[in-house]
Amino acid sequence: MKDTILELNNVRKSYGNFQALKGIDLTLNASEILGFIGPNGAGKTTTIKVILGMIKAQGTSRVFDLDSWKDAVEIHKYLSYVPGDVNLWPNLTGGEVIDFFLMLKKQKDTSYKHELIKRFDLDPTKKCKTYSKGNRQKVALIAALSSDVSLYIFDEPTSGLDPLMETLFQEEVRQLKDQGKSILLSSHILSEVEQLCDTINIIKEGKIIEKGNLQDMRHLSMSNIRVSTEKNISGLDQVDYIKDYRLIDGYHEFKIENHKIGEVIAQLSQYEIKSFESRLSTLEELFMGYYGEEH
Ligand SMILES: Nc1ncnc2c1ncn2[C@@H]1O[C@H](COP(=O)(O)OP(=O)(O)O)[C@@H](O)[C@H]1O
Ligand SMILES: [Mg+2]
Repeated sequence: MKDTILELNNVRKSYGNFQALKGIDLTLNASEILGFIGPNGAGKTTTIKVILGMIKAQGTSRVFDLDSWKDAVEIHKYLSYVPGDVNLWPNLTGGEVIDFFLMLKKQKDTSYKHELIKRFDLDPTKKCKTYSKGNRQKVALIAALSSDVSLYIFDEPTSGLDPLMETLFQEEVRQLKDQGKSILLSSHILSEVEQLCDTINIIKEGKIIEKGNLQDMRHLSMSNIRVSTEKNISGLDQVDYIKDYRLIDGYHEFKIENHKIGEVIAQLSQYEIKSFESRLSTLEELFMGYYGEEH
């Protein structure tokens, strides 16, 4: 049986009359990376605050089999958390803040922090009030990544980082996983998820609307087909399961649900297929399908 690190059942949270979480179920198993994906306002941060015992909610939230609200102090000994919007003590330097966090975790071996400060190219001697959002984020990330804990929770950690730093962050997360750590990673950047996560949960308007691994998600998505034939075809745009049909330079391009591929090939073969390419939609495209073009 897998060890469960984090388990939420039917978690509900209202702010006044507004219900931000409408019954969230989440599971994170040991040594896994759980991607928590959804557009702004979906409820990611609220869920994470419930997990961390920062706000009270209905339903159950358990971390290391302890209660998020009642046992928050104990739980926090074994986890590190990086919020999306990092606020630091303005008059402390970045280095002092990192040391303070490591002290809170009773971290004796602090050697890794020096390496991270170099890799993330942070000047730890500057006062926090002079840091940009990206630099504040680096301070929090370095403090979290150099702590030796069981669970790491990152809430949109790379939103203020440039692409190079984002890649660095991903490498660090991969290393943590290799060391057997468990990670909850919230994001609206799907490329992070595609590359890192074992399981993906998609949240929308306070509800989990989809969960599974990348493969599970992809069976819901579409294939992009590009085909050419010896004999002329017409009327493909009339076929009900063919979507977004276009004829470009003699190639027929369209989308179909993946399970229709056999049917399409059978249909087209009577026209003598010259070339046939099929590309699975990326998670990004799948995501667009859920949320519409504006997201
Ligand atoms: N303290 C609060 N008071 C009132 N509404 C809030 C508060 N915090 C969050 N919300 C609302 O709850 C919803 C979920 O917010 P949030 O959890 O921050 O989403 P996300 O992190 O996915 O962007 C949003 O509609 C947001 O406006
Ligand atoms: Mg948020």
